[in-house]
Amino acid sequence: MKIAVVLALPLMAYAAPPDFAHDVAPIVYKYCAPCHRPGESGPFSLLSYADVKQRARMIAEVTASRYMPPWPPEAGYGEFSDDLRLSDAQIRTIAGWAAAIRSPKISQASGAPVKATEML
Ligand code: HEC
Repeated sequence: MKIAVVLALPLMAYAAPPDFAHDVAPIVYKYCAPCHRPGESGPFSLLSYADVKQRARMIAEVTASRYMPPWPPEAGYGEFSDDLRLSDAQIRTIAGWAAAIRSPKISQASGAPVKATEML
């Protein structure tokens, strides 16, 4: 019985693909955009739907491997606290969205343009 519940969970998690504006943008703009913006250390910006969509697969990979956000934070990012580590659920959200936008059937539903400046 317990096993059935555990097996059902991943299916339920993907029943409704994560939505960019609602699920993904708040994570990326809080945890990534502070460095991934012009003038900061990140090599490219993650400030818009287009920025994030273009690199969705890579973002899913670097968050799943916990390569990003960098930890411990580099010198100069003293305000970083444990709050700025991604939770497993957040990593799954990003991975689920990155997978969903590759599927033509649901890509429309999973992406609504929203700019970081509207959220920061
Ligand atoms: C403390 C600053 C900082 C934060 C926060 C940060 N990054 Fe980065 N990121 C960097 C720097 C600097 C590099 C380039 C050097 C490197 O690859 O380590 C980089 C590189 C990358 C790369 C390219 C990796 C490669 O193999 O070329 C990706 C993708 C990335 N970041 C995504 C993210 C995502 C997604 C987040 C949020 C979950 C994030 N970053 C948060 C500073 C940051």
